[in-house]
Amino acid sequence: MNDPDGHPVRANFRSALRRSFRHALEGLAADGVLPLGPAEIAALVEQVRETAEAKFGDYSGTMAMPLAKKAGSKPRDVAVEIGRRLETAPGYADLFEPPGDPVGPGFINIRVKDAALAAAVARAVADERLGVAAVAEPQTIVVDFSSPNVAKPMHVGHIRSTVIGDALARILRFRGHRVITDNHLGDWGTQFGMILWGWKHCRDDAAFAADPTAELGRLYRLVRKVADAKPEELAADPAAAALAAGHPDAAREVLRETAKLHEGDPENRALWERFMPVCRAEIDRLYTRLHVGFDHTLGESFFQPLLAGTVDDLVAKGLARESRGAIGVFLGGEEDPPLLIRKADGAFLYATTDLATIRWRLEHWHPDRILYVVDHRQSGHFEQVFEAARRWGLPGIDGVDLVHVAFGTVLGEDGRPFKTRAGDTVGLEALLDEGVERAAAVVGGDEGRAGMNAEDRRHVAETVGIGAIKYADLSQNRTTDYVFSFDKMLQLTGNTAAYMQYAVARVEGIFTKGGVDRETLRRECHGVSVSDPKERALALELLRFGEALEDVEADSRPNVLTAWLYDLAGCYSTFYDALPVLKAEGPERDSRLAICDLTGRVLRRGLDLLGIGTVEKM
Ligand code: ARG
Repeated sequence: MNDPDGHPVRANFRSALRRSFRHALEGLAADGVLPLGPAEIAALVEQVRETAEAKFGDYSGTMAMPLAKKAGSKPRDVAVEIGRRLETAPGYADLFEPPGDPVGPGFINIRVKDAALAAAVARAVADERLGVAAVAEPQTIVVDFSSPNVAKPMHVGHIRSTVIGDALARILRFRGHRVITDNHLGDWGTQFGMILWGWKHCRDDAAFAADPTAELGRLYRLVRKVADAKPEELAADPAAAALAAGHPDAAREVLRETAKLHEGDPENRALWERFMPVCRAEIDRLYTRLHVGFDHTLGESFFQPLLAGTVDDLVAKGLARESRGAIGVFLGGEEDPPLLIRKADGAFLYATTDLATIRWRLEHWHPDRILYVVDHRQSGHFEQVFEAARRWGLPGIDGVDLVHVAFGTVLGEDGRPFKTRAGDTVGLEALLDEGVERAAAVVGGDEGRAGMNAEDRRHVAETVGIGAIKYADLSQNRTTDYVFSFDKMLQLTGNTAAYMQYAVARVEGIFTKGGVDRETLRRECHGVSVSDPKERALALELLRFGEALEDVEADSRPNVLTAWLYDLAGCYSTFYDALPVLKAEGPERDSRLAICDLTGRVLRRGLDLLGIGTVEKM
């Protein structure tokens, strides 16, 4: 079904209802009943949300209480007045039942009309966007995520930025924004000094020829121990101890190698060019396995030519000045430490690159928003960088929303930062391997295994194992630390990927079992029935997909989507356990099958927007 302009009609009940509430409140303000400004109205309208229990209707407005306080009248009277105005709001009566009496201290509870609900489900069934409207005003959004420091192996700490950033990019893109993903690789830092030094003092040419990634990884780990010179680490590693004994000044020499690279020393530059493809191949292998891609990978090295100009410009504008030989941007009072952008020895810093990067992105991409998906420990850094960028007054900076999408640490089951038994950080590749191996043991009971060959089984284990790791991360409130537990994440019940993937397989299995052609079903679906409360609850939940995605965007929180998907799966179970589907007859059968079809597709799309795959059987 199309609207008069030829656009498909996609219902977002909550947005439509909020518009009606806005209309009602604006009327109250215009008639002088209540003094309300546009900002206040917008904030009150945002509080219109789904109700916790069906007996209170589908959505609820709570603004009568604060407004009554303001007007010095009774909340119920205000609620009645708002309700009266809602009813006459344009379009309200097409979608919603009349408000009825306020409940309790003045809740305005609203129920979607069954006919509107049934029609919206039928349209969603026929819609490739599953009834989800695109945003009215698409923005250009840069998502800066993953961004590992290369030349050292990727570890468990990298999973969060990679997985959260990828999910946000997918969701924003589906919402209709122009999304530009950029992997801001740390490809110019001190870790290169380590492998340069290691290469010069203890490389194994044959090993490098056979497996360059492994050899660079070995050099990194070895040199880090030598440079750190911690007695207990050296005691446990004779090779490192021997090397450390011969190089008491290793730490300083390593820094010197980095400095030479930055100064343009031809030998170090040539080695850097030789190492980079090896480092890239290693991380790309992981990205392929995680199904994560980037539009751009402009690492720190890309911005190096712009750093001197960045410092000069900030100095010329009077924002940066000398402080004990170094140069810093002074953001607070004289006593507050400045944001350093050049060290006394002339070296540039992490912040210098980030400032140059903001300028470059504004010039080339004209973003409305930039999301930095980075560990919460860097929040101080981003606060300062954002403030410095604003004061810098770059063209376009005023219109751009700079957001640090921070996340907490991955903890082990002992509640401490996740480490291997030997105390090393956990390598990402080994972690994925273990997840897949454990998934192979969990999935494919006798029923699932039947008819699966080895190749299928490997594919299912990979999808379930990687999905479990991603989902466990995404379903956490991102700002808190989270405990990494294979046992929990691979459970087949509860809010886990395996449970959700299993739900998809189960819903979709109905069509195979019943020999139902889904394309025909979709084409011929002219309406569904929502007469049973369980059917109705599922239908309504299905149509909230767009609302969940909207809420993910508002706060950059993918866990809003996982929580909603889990609720949806719950509504489906209740529906399916109580009502016959394949055994129903006539239009009722078609209606229920259409609802199942939509449920399967919404669950699958929802998981896909989280970067998680599904399988037909498991
Ligand atoms: N490479 C950095 C790290 O590993 C993260 C970079 C995040 N992005 C940025 N624009 N600073 O800590």
